[in-house]
Amino acid sequence: MTTLSDYLQQAETTSEVSSVITTIAEVGRDITALLRRGALADILGEAGNENIQGEAQKKLDVIANDMLLDALTGNNHCAGVASEELDHATPANNKGSLLVLFDPLDGSSNIDINMAVGTIFSILPYNNVGNVAADSDFLQNGDAQLAAGYLLYGASTMLALTVGNGVTMFSLDPDSGEYVLVSENIRIDKDTSEYAINSSNHRYWLAPMQQYIDELVAGDAGVRGRDFNTRWVAAMVGDVHRILCRGGIFMYPFDTKYANKAGKLRLMYEANPMSFLIEQAGGASTDAVKRIMSIEPNDIHQRVPVVLGSENEVLRVQTIHNEHNQS
Ligand code: AHG
Ligand code: MN
Ligand code: MN
Repeated sequence: MTTLSDYLQQAETTSEVSSVITTIAEVGRDITALLRRGALADILGEAGNENIQGEAQKKLDVIANDMLLDALTGNNHCAGVASEELDHATPANNKGSLLVLFDPLDGSSNIDINMAVGTIFSILPYNNVGNVAADSDFLQNGDAQLAAGYLLYGASTMLALTVGNGVTMFSLDPDSGEYVLVSENIRIDKDTSEYAINSSNHRYWLAPMQQYIDELVAGDAGVRGRDFNTRWVAAMVGDVHRILCRGGIFMYPFDTKYANKAGKLRLMYEANPMSFLIEQAGGASTDAVKRIMSIEPNDIHQRVPVVLGSENEVLRVQTIHNEHNQS
């Protein structure tokens, strides 16, 4: 049996990164305990506030955010944190060498219906050691990430992690409280017959995305000549987890519903860490046309269209977009 701490001791990463990952995993254990008690822990329902993105915060969004914020600002290696739920970055130890971004609770709309939610994190180098960390220090592209991962609070709690050398999965043992390694060197098949998208936004998509999905829906009666199946967890963590387990394509494309926002998902603490995992497992991750991890960010809360998963389907989306742009 290999535990997370065994794994981190021999992983190709620094002791500082290992320490921050350990801190996040410990908070994941505490969030798991709250979720297991559910309604009994008084964690369901609205918090009564909105975050910077104008979304109503759930109680558990705020609780999970505060737990991660407290734990990470208490870790000496952490120079600052940025969260979906906080307008600006929070500086921590200015002698620390790392920055952490997180989506404390992904899939908030699932909380009240007792369905899967998650936590997503991204660890970046701090290039301004000795000075107080500010938003601008976080504006590094996805390729700068030192580590990334998510905690999935599903039927069991799982941690998927990359430090840039493949993807490793751990399962939280509810008896011992240890994260135990359950799979490594995860690989995503290049081909898939399973896709995830919120189809209710069809009329807001651009023509190439409508064409791609229409081809999948047409199945063996259309140009693809075979049937496809839909799955939608409504928590990106759950959909990405399924893709790491058995392939698939996940999309939250550009749509005119989120005017001037380029889609729904956030680059820095949703798209980049998930892209790092997907690429490390041999999949592809784009904004429909170009690689997400190459995007130079200009705002810690900026949104980005997301098309990720099995390589050949991601390429098919890209090809259709290129064909439309040429015509
Ligand atoms: P969050 O709960 O952190 O705001 O993120 C929710 C995101 C993502 O997890 C999921 O894929 C998507 O929103 C679901 O969107 P729909 O409401 O369109 O299903
Ligand atoms: Mn989210
Ligand atoms: Mn969230």
